[in-house]
Amino acid sequence: MTMELLTDPRHVAIIMDGNGRWAERRGLPRSFGHRAGVEALRRVVRHSADLGIRYLTVYAFSTENWKRPRREINFLFGLLREYFQKTVEELHAMRVRIRIIGDMTPFPADVRDLAAKAGQRTRENGGLRLQIALNYGGRAEIVKAARALAAEAREGSLTPAEIDEDRFALYLHTAGLPDPELVIRTSGESRLSNFLLWQTAYAELVVTDLCWPDFDEAALENALTEYRRRDRRFGSVRREK
Ligand code: FPP
Repeated sequence: MTMELLTDPRHVAIIMDGNGRWAERRGLPRSFGHRAGVEALRRVVRHSADLGIRYLTVYAFSTENWKRPRREINFLFGLLREYFQKTVEELHAMRVRIRIIGDMTPFPADVRDLAAKAGQRTRENGGLRLQIALNYGGRAEIVKAARALAAEAREGSLTPAEIDEDRFALYLHTAGLPDPELVIRTSGESRLSNFLLWQTAYAELVVTDLCWPDFDEAALENALTEYRRRDRRFGSVRREK
């Protein structure tokens, strides 16, 4: 058995949904749900690393999240601050390498700074590669890539005929990463919500009714089992990759 098979799926992407509902069902403010969501993320990162998953990409703040009340947005910034301050050493000890995908320009300068430092601190690590999507939107990412390619074509360093799928993918935030084979979404909705639109072309989507704060090691393993059950149905006719 090759390493590839041992760690199939190599790349898991997660839409962490339902923090607010988790809290509301308990009569708690939504902020409690987000805080519990950070704990769920810590569990899932640790377990993914233990299971030998190579890449984990999580949707932490979408371009649509700016529509939330300012207080909630500020609370999420505070959680990010704490995450980058307190959790980075724990991740570093696990050899996790952190990368932000998305456009952090509109974030407070100190949060941007902490995110950049987390990337720097962990950049030599050879363990799990953790992508945190912040102010990420799939369509915006594709438009940005198209714009960069158009600029190069205008400059003359590229001809339109040279633009193929591999070249295009180099202009995405995920350049250099394999596409996710599995997307997990919590709290029952079966939508992609503008997450990794290009990269998930052939991914399996596994939806669980659990709200994100309740997602744990067993839930991750259940999602992997479901993925492998579906993947096996393709038998020798492997899914297009
Ligand atoms: C979805 O729940 C979750 C979010 C919009 C934020 C995700 C954030 C975290 C898990 C914590 C912060 C992450 C880091 C990396 C520090 P929701 O609020 O949309 O839930 P709802 O759909 O029930 O309202």
